[in-house]
Amino acid sequence: MIEPGLFVERDPGQDSERQTVGLGSMLLEAGSTLTDVTLAYQTWGRFDGENAILVCHALTGDSDATSWWDRMVGHGRPIDTDRYFVICSNVLGGCQGSTGPSSLAEDREPYGSRFPIITVGDMVDAQARLLDHLGVTRLAAVAGGSMGGMQALEWTSRFPNRVRRAFVSASAARHSAMQIAFNEVGRQAVMRDPRWLGGDYAPGEGPDDGLSVARMLGHLTFLSPAAFEAKFARRLQNKAAPDYHLGIEFEVESYLQYQAGKFLKRFDANSQLILTRAIDYYEGPSFSKASAMYGFVSYTSDWIYPTSMSAEAHAAALAAGRTSQHRVIDLPYGHDAFLLDGELQGEAFRELMAS
Ligand code: COA
Repeated sequence: MIEPGLFVERDPGQDSERQTVGLGSMLLEAGSTLTDVTLAYQTWGRFDGENAILVCHALTGDSDATSWWDRMVGHGRPIDTDRYFVICSNVLGGCQGSTGPSSLAEDREPYGSRFPIITVGDMVDAQARLLDHLGVTRLAAVAGGSMGGMQALEWTSRFPNRVRRAFVSASAARHSAMQIAFNEVGRQAVMRDPRWLGGDYAPGEGPDDGLSVARMLGHLTFLSPAAFEAKFARRLQNKAAPDYHLGIEFEVESYLQYQAGKFLKRFDANSQLILTRAIDYYEGPSFSKASAMYGFVSYTSDWIYPTSMSAEAHAAALAAGRTSQHRVIDLPYGHDAFLLDGELQGEAFRELMAS
C-alpha cells in the first residue's frame, strides 16, 4: 500500500505511437457543425473482441494514458495493458493532436474565436466514432478521473449498449456553483490578457500571462491544504531570510510559477476556455437510460470534487436500479490523488472488473 506521504515516484510512459483518425464532419450538441474532425489516439495491448477499455483524460491530459495515469495503466497495472486493449484519445477541443481551437480551419488559419462551444457529449460522440474506426462495438469498461469521469458517465447513457462498466474517479455528475466559479476566474484571467485578442492570437503569441494565472489558480484546487503544508510550509525559496519585495519569497510561490511555466509549453489558452466551459455545462447522465455497472472512487482530501459529489452520483445510479459501488479513499494528496494513487484506486477498479 502507498504510504500516505506526499512524494510519489513517477513512471515514464509506455511506448505506443500516437495516431490520428479523420472523423469527417460532426454536428455538435449546441447546434454548430465542425468539418474534418481529427482525433489523436493511442492504444496498448491486443483486442480480443471483449477486452477493450477506453480511458478518458482530465482537463489538460492527452492520449498517453500510460504517462499521466502511470499508476493505473500499463504492464501489470490495474488497467493492465497485457490483459486489456486500452484506448485513449485526446478530447475534441483539446490541443494535443485532436481538433481544437488551435487547429487549422479550412482557410488554413487557426480556428481561434471561430471554434464552437462543445459539450462532454460531443467529446463522447467523437470517441464513439473512433471506436467504430477501431472495430470496437462494446467496451468492457470506460474509465477516467475528473473530466475523464464525466466522459465515462456520459458514455453510459449516450451509448448504453456499448459499455459494460464505468469507472469514475474524483469526479462529479455536475459542477457546483463553486466549481463553475473557479473555472470562470481562470477564464477571465485568459480573456482579460490583452494578448488573447478575442481568441484570435497568432500561434506562439497567446495570452501566456492570463493562462499562467488560470493554471496557478487551477493548481490550488488540485492539492489539499495538507499537501501544500507538507510540501512547502512557510519555507523561503533558497534563502534563510526574506528580501522584502514582491518577487518570489516563498517556496510555494516558486512552485506555482514553475508549474504554470511548464503548463504554458504544452497547453493552448482557447482549449482551456472551451474545455472548462464544456465541463461547466455538463448536467450528468440519465442513469435510467444506462445499463452499465458503476464504480465510483473519491478521496477524502479532494475538496474541489468532494466525496459528497461521488456519493450523490452513486446514490442516483442505485436509485435508477443500476449496480454501483463507491469507494472512499483516505489519502492526503487532494484532487491529484487520482493521478498519484494506483494501489487503492486500483483495488476499486479490479473489484469493478470482477463484478
Ligand atoms: N520551486 C520550483 N519548482 C518546484 C519547487 C519549488 N519550490 N518544488 C517542487 N518543484 C518542482 C519539482 O522540481 C518537480 O519538477 P518536475 O515535475 O519538472 O520534475 C515538480 O515541482 C514536482 O511537482 P509535484 O506537484 O510536487 O509532484 P507530485 O509527484 O506530487 O505530483 C503531478 C505530480 C504530475 C500530479 C503534479 O506535478 C501535477 O502536475 N499536478 C497537476 C496535474 C493536473 O493537471 N491535475 C488536475 C487534473 S484535473
